[in-house]
Amino acid sequence: MQAVQLYKPFPHQRAVHGAITAHLNAHPPGDSSRQVTFAVNAMRQVGKTTMVGNEIIRFALAMPKKESVYIAPTYKLTRKMVAEFSKALTGNPLLDSINKTENYVSFANGHSVYLMSAEQGDAVRGFNASGVLVIDEFAYMRDEFLDNVVAPFTDFHKTPTITISTPRGKRGKHYEFQVYAKEGQPKFVGFDWAAFDMSCIRSAEWLEDKRRTLPERTFRTDYLGEFLDNEGAVFRNLNGCILAPGLEPAMQHLKWGIDWAAGSGNDRTVLTAFNDLNEQVYLKAWDSTPPMQQVSEIARIINDHKEITRSVIAEKNSMGAVYIDALRKECRFPVVEFVTTNEEKRRIIENLVKLTEAAAVGLKPVEAQLSEFDYFESHTLPSGAIVYSAPVGLHDDYVMAAAIALSQKQHERKFMIL
Ligand SMILES: Nc1ncnc2c1ncn2[C@@H]1O[C@H](COP(=O)(O)OP(=O)(O)OP(=O)(O)O)[C@@H](O)[C@H]1O
Ligand SMILES: [Mg+2]
Repeated sequence: MQAVQLYKPFPHQRAVHGAITAHLNAHPPGDSSRQVTFAVNAMRQVGKTTMVGNEIIRFALAMPKKESVYIAPTYKLTRKMVAEFSKALTGNPLLDSINKTENYVSFANGHSVYLMSAEQGDAVRGFNASGVLVIDEFAYMRDEFLDNVVAPFTDFHKTPTITISTPRGKRGKHYEFQVYAKEGQPKFVGFDWAAFDMSCIRSAEWLEDKRRTLPERTFRTDYLGEFLDNEGAVFRNLNGCILAPGLEPAMQHLKWGIDWAAGSGNDRTVLTAFNDLNEQVYLKAWDSTPPMQQVSEIARIINDHKEITRSVIAEKNSMGAVYIDALRKECRFPVVEFVTTNEEKRRIIENLVKLTEAAAVGLKPVEAQLSEFDYFESHTLPSGAIVYSAPVGLHDDYVMAAAIALSQKQHERKFMIL
């Protein structure tokens, strides 16, 4: 018989595997009591992804011809998991193939694992998981997306779910699931890895280094696994600012904003436009297109709307200067530079926060954008300065493009009296 060498779990990982095994033994496939959620609260770099990856492989080998789903907040994290599967399984006869374009793994026994990202939004709607559903970095997905798109995955086959994440304050589903499990609600089995000795995977010196270099709240959340009060959500009225699907606001008086990819392969270039009512009328992101091709496409898009354009503002970071020069050569509308200092970033983000709190801005219902707004955070540095950013490993390109587009004081109708 063929075997695949799974990893040797640490005690905190073993606790989860053990509980899942006991549950599966007691509740056969199809039985409605099998549809429970194993909710794991954890810290950074303690083997979350490794644990769920191994659990998925175990389900795959035990359940021929079934389908499992792994979902992460960003495409980048999804790709990382595909790479992990590839590393663990390539060459093993139990593997049939790994499709790195479509992001799925098929095993020789007919089990398929589909790897998805929340950035795909509605495109993943309607999937039925018959093996296991795993949601990694669970606290970083919007509740509405989880409720409307992901939660139904397990309904048809009564499939178990594993959710795992670092905490993000006392709000959202990740926090609620921990509370439900503590209350003894039958559909939730909770684990708090903060209660485990983690010295097996992170040394005292390493942890001390993190304590010294990170803002205190980040350290307590990400490295101690604590649920803090009032954890820094920035856009609190996001739901009040989402344009209805299919709504096409007036294409007039366009204010364009451009946030360039930093070029590290980790983020995107985002182009957006808002009209005079601050309704988002255009949104496009580029992932892997060569930068100069992005510049040409952006110039063409803006040129196509030249007659109705009022302003074009582009981020000028290290690479932005080069792109702006190139853009100015092709774009038939003056391009204003936005220089991202901490101070300026703070000004335009706080302006955008004010607009969202007054519901004076409308955002397109694009999940990749909405989730960025949802998880965007603020931290107070020891100096007292406030810093705004995406959580570690996640993006803020959509947020920045919108903030840049809406950053200019409005000169409303100053030149339009006659
Ligand atoms: N049981 C284990 N035995 C040995 N190494 C492990 C084990 N579990 C995890 N690791 C290693 O620890 C590191 C962190 O693991 P992993 O990426 O799974 O953590 P994570 O909690 O998902 O991290 P992040 O917070 O960055 O998402 C990796 O190098 C992984 O190979
Ligand atoms: Mg991980």
